[in-house]
Amino acid sequence: MWTRHSRRLNHINTTLNNLRQVPGSAFWNPRKFRAIWVGGARTLMPASRLARLWDIAAEVSSLDGAVVECGTYKGGSAFVLASRLRNKPIWLFDSWEGCPSSSEFDIDISGRLGQKGDFEASFDEFNKFLRHFPNQGKNVTAVRGWFENTLPTYKTRIGKISLLHLDGDWYESTKTCLECLFERVVDGGFIIIDDYGYWSGCRKAVDEFVKNTNWLIERLDDTQHMIHKIFASET
Ligand SMILES: C[S@@+](CC[C@H](N)C(=O)[O-])C[C@H]1O[C@@H](n2cnc3c(N)ncnc32)[C@H](O)[C@@H]1O
Repeated sequence: MWTRHSRRLNHINTTLNNLRQVPGSAFWNPRKFRAIWVGGARTLMPASRLARLWDIAAEVSSLDGAVVECGTYKGGSAFVLASRLRNKPIWLFDSWEGCPSSSEFDIDISGRLGQKGDFEASFDEFNKFLRHFPNQGKNVTAVRGWFENTLPTYKTRIGKISLLHLDGDWYESTKTCLECLFERVVDGGFIIIDDYGYWSGCRKAVDEFVKNTNWLIERLDDTQHMIHKIFASET
């Protein structure tokens, strides 16, 4: 009885906390609000970051190219992207076994070393949720496996990318995603890196990748960063 009450109180508390983070603009946009509300129940990402994902997704709606997410977990951020970009092909990559073994670089802001199996989520549960995506998820392809095996095989099939959401946490995972997919992102497209400020291995992989290039890493909040891939125009 007490457990049931305390669970309910916990739920109300989380919901109210989440609501406080939803930017005012979302309250006037029922589709955006719903996407953040439904997606927010299946992710550790705060509502403010989901709202930003929605806004960036809106900017690529007129660009050519698919949406790709590497690191989908229970599908929360993918739901927000799919809700804003209903007419684009969406590719979701994950092991659905959690993260692989970490390296010495994979330390979070509290000093904790990442562990194999972190963020494990059920593929069956995810597929059930997929049926509640816009178009019942018919424009979504979920590819299960390790990035290092799946991305080299799928990158040609994906073709052009307008929005690349990197949420694979570890150094090796982020490095593989950048090496396989960055070049596919079109002029004007975005690469959003969820963990740049949170996992030091992720930051290292991005920093190494952009070193000796002109790409700028822009800060969106304490952890979420992005690269806006705009090709310099020739004069
Ligand atoms: C933080 S979670 C993603 C969160 C998700 N974007 C959301 O909305 O909540 C990180 C995910 O990356 C996946 N992952 C990390 N490295 C991977 C790799 N090398 N291959 C496949 N999946 C990987 C994990 O299985 C996990 O589901």
